[in-house]
Amino acid sequence: MHDTLATLYYWLKAGHIIFVIFWMAGLFMLPRLFVYHQEAAPDSPENAVWIDRERKLLKIILMPSIVVVWVLGILLAYASGAWSQGWFHAKLLLVLGLSAYHGYLSAYAGKLARGERTLTGKQLRLLNEVPGIAVALIVILVIIKPF
Ligand code: HEM
Repeated sequence: MHDTLATLYYWLKAGHIIFVIFWMAGLFMLPRLFVYHQEAAPDSPENAVWIDRERKLLKIILMPSIVVVWVLGILLAYASGAWSQGWFHAKLLLVLGLSAYHGYLSAYAGKLARGERTLTGKQLRLLNEVPGIAVALIVILVIIKPF
């Protein structure tokens, strides 16, 4: 029984990291699509193409990935007893921040689809730095477990 759980644990962790990579790929791509989208004329055919691309990225990659990362992450937390550990509390805070960032991008895609361009290209490029910083901190926390 113990071996089965241990094997299952590593499959959970493998699945967790695979979908973390998909989720991060989507979070890195979407603001970049917004930058190019906003360079297209508002009512042009190209504008409609960008709206479609953003919708597909959200529906096919980002949404399924965030769900699987959370489900497998919570299962890992129960299996490893991580709930009581300081590194995990800090990690969870950062991941909640990343999930809010995901929500913000999803809302902005909706705005762009309605023709509302409220952020500049420079602001969008700055926004694109957020997941990079968060990922570095999260991976250090979960590998080094400093506290
Ligand atoms: C969404 C909520 C998340 C939860 C609840 C969660 C929870 C966990 C838990 C409990 C482990 C097992 C730790 C261990 O065995 O030592 C783990 C492993 C891991 N997590 Fe997450 N995680 C989440 C999101 C993320 C995100 C967003 C990233 C990266 C950006 C990430 C990266 C990793 C890595 C790299 C490992 C493997 C660590 C190792 O092998 O020691 N996780 N996660």
